[in-house]
Amino acid sequence: MHQKDLIGRAQHVLPAGGFGNFDPGIIIREGKGSRVWDEDGNEYIDLLIGSGPMVLGHGHPEVVEAVGEQLARGMTFFANNARGIELAEAICDAVACAEQVRFVSTGSEADMYAMRLARAATGRDKIMKFEGGYHGMSAEAQMSLAPERLVNFPVAVPDSGGIPDSLRDEMLVAPYNDIEFAHSLIAERADEIAGVIVEPLQRIIPPAPGFLQALRDECTKHGIVLIFDEVVTGFRFAYGGAQELYGITPDVCTLGKVIGGGFPLAAIAGKADVMACFDKEKASENGFMMQIGTLSGNPVAAVAGLKTLEILRRPGQYEKLFATGEAIMASVAKHLDAAGQAHQILGHASMFDFLFMDGPVNNYRDVKRGDATKYAAFNGVLRQQGIFKSPGKTYMSLALDDDDLAQIDAAVAAAAASVPH
Ligand SMILES: Cc1ncc(COP(=O)(O)O)c(C=O)c1O
Repeated sequence: MHQKDLIGRAQHVLPAGGFGNFDPGIIIREGKGSRVWDEDGNEYIDLLIGSGPMVLGHGHPEVVEAVGEQLARGMTFFANNARGIELAEAICDAVACAEQVRFVSTGSEADMYAMRLARAATGRDKIMKFEGGYHGMSAEAQMSLAPERLVNFPVAVPDSGGIPDSLRDEMLVAPYNDIEFAHSLIAERADEIAGVIVEPLQRIIPPAPGFLQALRDECTKHGIVLIFDEVVTGFRFAYGGAQELYGITPDVCTLGKVIGGGFPLAAIAGKADVMACFDKEKASENGFMMQIGTLSGNPVAAVAGLKTLEILRRPGQYEKLFATGEAIMASVAKHLDAAGQAHQILGHASMFDFLFMDGPVNNYRDVKRGDATKYAAFNGVLRQQGIFKSPGKTYMSLALDDDDLAQIDAAVAAAAASVPH
């Protein structure tokens, strides 16, 4: 089957010809280690890695073996199972805020429940988020994620059809990294704010010094639930996630991607007093949160996640992951400098991306100033040169080796030289 035929078939049965995630003009046939192949057999170095989960690379033999053993013993039970309990224990051992864990299937769900949890725990309604912050697909999360129209803070702008106007009023939107704004908004509206949700490193923008600490202090002062969305950063920025890296402990975090080892599994993890809202016996009178999911704690996903975490705990893994990222960032900087292109390389050594602009970059509005034409040209040539990456992020995996790095360097050189002036 040629790729073009499949692309044509997809046009009939999938809206916009795709799953909604990625360029429907490429169909991936398989992945192994650091590489993926499309349906025509073209080979790519994979810097998308399933949008983050495949931190060990594709088809890691130990994960495949562990999953195979579990498959033969049953795929899903809806009931508690030992593998899910072990994964919850591993998360509680690793993540500072995690005293208890509730499993769901996707990061979107985890974020949706985390926001509801903040409401249930405080009895307040409003959620504060940051413009440009991504927290999945719930109606709350689809506010001021990628607004074209820039309005005055803290007014929220829905990113999607189908969101009632009334919900917009429950969301307060602030500029990321603006300590003063966060401080005054929280001080003014503290009685109404249930939770503050934040990507500790928002998309690719690092937190300004003191920003996360300021959120922590304000939330503590006013009894607001601080939620770190660690769907991307969890077990990636450090074994204990961004909260370990930055030394700030939220009340609740959400996890996804890496903890499912490539299977649909995500989690809400938090302090026991907040997580008590999931427990009818312990929740306050109006604070109980019903939460059920057919696949929650799925044993196949739990086994894949457990094996992934076990491998990540081995000595030297994070050093290798970060060294790989630093090498690619240095390659991009070298070639874009040589090409005379103003650029920013932002993020973390395990996950980063590039913007064609002068700095500084502190928030969503700064990112919007980047030159989208140059960026598209750069990414386009990278794809032609056999590099598979998303528009927006470059994900590192432990499967990348020196041969991959050499090939990436050559591709980056070609892409940098082709960016228009
Ligand atoms: C920070 C963040 N939160 C939440 C999500 C949603 O996770 P999922 O795609 O599993 O629903 C994502 C997905 O990329 C994410 O990057």
